[in-house]
Amino acid sequence: MNKKRKSSSLLRLFPFVFLLGMVFLIGNAFITVDYKEGISGWSSIIRLNLAKLKMCKTQFRPPGSETLPRGIVASKSDLEMRPLWGAKRNKKPKQNLLAMAAGIKQKESVNKIVNKFSSSEFVVMLFHYDGSVDEWKEFEWSETAIHISVVNQTKWWFAKRFLHPDIVSAYSYIFLWDEDLGVDNFDARRYVSIIKEEGLEISQPALDPHLSEVHHQHTSRENKSRVHRRTYKVIGRARCNENSTGPPCTGFVEMMAPVFSRAAWRCTWHMIQNDLNHGWGIDFQLGYCAQGDRTKNIGIVDSEYILHLGLPTLGGSAENKTDSGELDQTKSQHSSDKTKPSPISQMSSGRSEVRKQTYAELETFKHRWKNAVKNDECWIDRFRA
Ligand SMILES: *[C@@H]1O[C@H](CO)[C@@H](O)[C@H](O)[C@H]1NC(C)=O
Ligand SMILES: *[C@@H]1O[C@H](CO)[C@@H](O)[C@H](O)[C@H]1NC(C)=O
Ligand SMILES: *[C@@H]1O[C@H](CO)[C@@H](O)[C@H](O)[C@H]1NC(C)=O
Ligand SMILES: *[C@@H]1O[C@H](CO)[C@@H](O)[C@H](O)[C@H]1NC(C)=O
Repeated sequence: MNKKRKSSSLLRLFPFVFLLGMVFLIGNAFITVDYKEGISGWSSIIRLNLAKLKMCKTQFRPPGSETLPRGIVASKSDLEMRPLWGAKRNKKPKQNLLAMAAGIKQKESVNKIVNKFSSSEFVVMLFHYDGSVDEWKEFEWSETAIHISVVNQTKWWFAKRFLHPDIVSAYSYIFLWDEDLGVDNFDARRYVSIIKEEGLEISQPALDPHLSEVHHQHTSRENKSRVHRRTYKVIGRARCNENSTGPPCTGFVEMMAPVFSRAAWRCTWHMIQNDLNHGWGIDFQLGYCAQGDRTKNIGIVDSEYILHLGLPTLGGSAENKTDSGELDQTKSQHSSDKTKPSPISQMSSGRSEVRKQTYAELETFKHRWKNAVKNDECWIDRFRA
């Protein structure tokens, strides 16, 4: 098909090339009879057209826009609100984006989180998975937030559908957060200035180890440091040290509170699978989206840290925190090994179904990754020792 098209476009070019040749010949003939002035005009026009042809051929046009003049093509967008009439108020566009899942049962926690993000610097986008939207109107920030409501969907489902990289490319950093986070020791503006300074393409605030559900040693807060990029603990069979090159020792963040740079998000978006709603497995592969060395460009910010409350927010009774309390203990016993299912007998049935689903999805994702690697002859594993 492609070949055919190529050769047919060559055919179409043929008369043009032929004409050019003729003009050139005639031009040469004229030179011999010394009409130099007119000729140099002609040939310069030809040269110009040739240059133009060459330039236009190499010019990039977004797919689908080839038939439009370039200046009219708006291939990217943003989430700024626009007035219905009158001039646009001369406000500075917002620099960053906070997108988070939001159920009305977590109203207080969501409100606290949003209040940590200055409204002049952050666009706020809420993914409502419980159908409640009007119930948020009591908060002043709700009026300028972007509300998306689809019942029973996860953060990753929303992110894949509503945070397309071309839509959110206006934002330097994208916070894609869960709602069950304690933010007493977190300030978004300071956080952004730290990751900018440290050159972190993918990051998360450290988890307070005393009060959080900590799944991975690596993301647990270290005292006295501003940022850390690796852990030195022994994790299962892995003995993490300064020579470790990847997860679980370095080069990943957890999925409850990741922060992406524009470029890292563009890559990560592509990795999110449409049918794997819980996003499990992506965390350990984020290194491939780190825009270079994952041991340098991925890090945990210790000086701005959060609590992970570990509430069963989707697919379970969110009111009953005793569930998650018990989950915490089983978690910390087998800390940091997600592939080992924790006992699920004490959980509500919705919750345990979700749990089962996440492990199944993790296996599917790993399987897909393996196959993709096997079938892509051109792909080079940049992290292969
Ligand atoms: C870190 O600091 C907290 C109190 O701020 C203290 O309880 C804890 O023992 C410290 N941990 C280490 C490893 O120094
Ligand atoms: C790390 O690598 C260096 C150089 O190969 C080696 O000398 C050192 O012993 C290694 N450290 C650990 C903890 O294995
Ligand atoms: C959403 O999930 C709840 C259970 O968690 C269920 O009762 C309800 O029917 C679901 N709604 C839709 C539209 O799927
Ligand atoms: C939560 O669990 C406790 C005991 O485990 C029970 O007494 C209580 O009624 C539950 N609350 C809700 C809202 O389900």
